[in-house]
Amino acid sequence: MDKPVLQVIVASTRPGRAGRAVAEWVHGKAVSSGLFEVELVDLAEVRLPFLDEPHHPRLKQYVNAHTKEWSATVDRADAYVFVTPEYNHSYPGVLKNALDYLHHEWQHKPAGFVSYGGVSGGTRAVAALRHVVSTLKMVPLMEGVIIPFVPQHLGEDGTLRPSDVMDASADAMLGELARYSGVLGAMRQPVA
Ligand SMILES: Cc1cc2nc3c(=O)[nH]c(=O)nc-3n(C[C@H](O)[C@H](O)[C@H](O)COP(=O)(O)O)c2cc1C
Repeated sequence: MDKPVLQVIVASTRPGRAGRAVAEWVHGKAVSSGLFEVELVDLAEVRLPFLDEPHHPRLKQYVNAHTKEWSATVDRADAYVFVTPEYNHSYPGVLKNALDYLHHEWQHKPAGFVSYGGVSGGTRAVAALRHVVSTLKMVPLMEGVIIPFVPQHLGEDGTLRPSDVMDASADAMLGELARYSGVLGAMRQPVA
């Protein structure tokens, strides 16, 4: 049987961001787990404009090539990991824009969160994000990774130096993502 496709979605886009290093660490862990086909989806590379579709996304009447491409990308996943910083006690607007573009593509798939920031480790960002992913009918997982004071976890080469807790949390999250993606696949079958 084919492995489920897991997308690791990088929510921060600014030059000098920590997000890409955090995402590459998660991506490596997901590949090593052997549980998934893993894709890194970097919103800095996707480069969506502010939502510019004339119709509600539930109608799937996309007119723009960038939306059709984004739809095809998100659609092929069976599970997501959102790698998000905390910006002003929430998650980046770039991620909200990327979520708002689509509707059916997100549904009935599990979502894990890897958050980082200052003392809160991005937990306020994830609290806000859970609400939105639930509205899009994703299933937000309890297991996730919290990285407080993220600069302290970046090596001189810019790669992430995880603590034991971060490693164990990522393993737990990936295990649950695999379990949920298997079960929720049935939810995405057409109703007879
Ligand atoms: C616009 C902005 C707002 C921020 N707001 C918060 C915040 O509310 N809480 C927090 O813990 N860190 C906050 N920070 C610090 C970031 O979490 C930290 O700089 C992190 O590295 C940002 O992720 P990035 O490097 O991937 O962009 C903020 C940073 C920026 C740029």
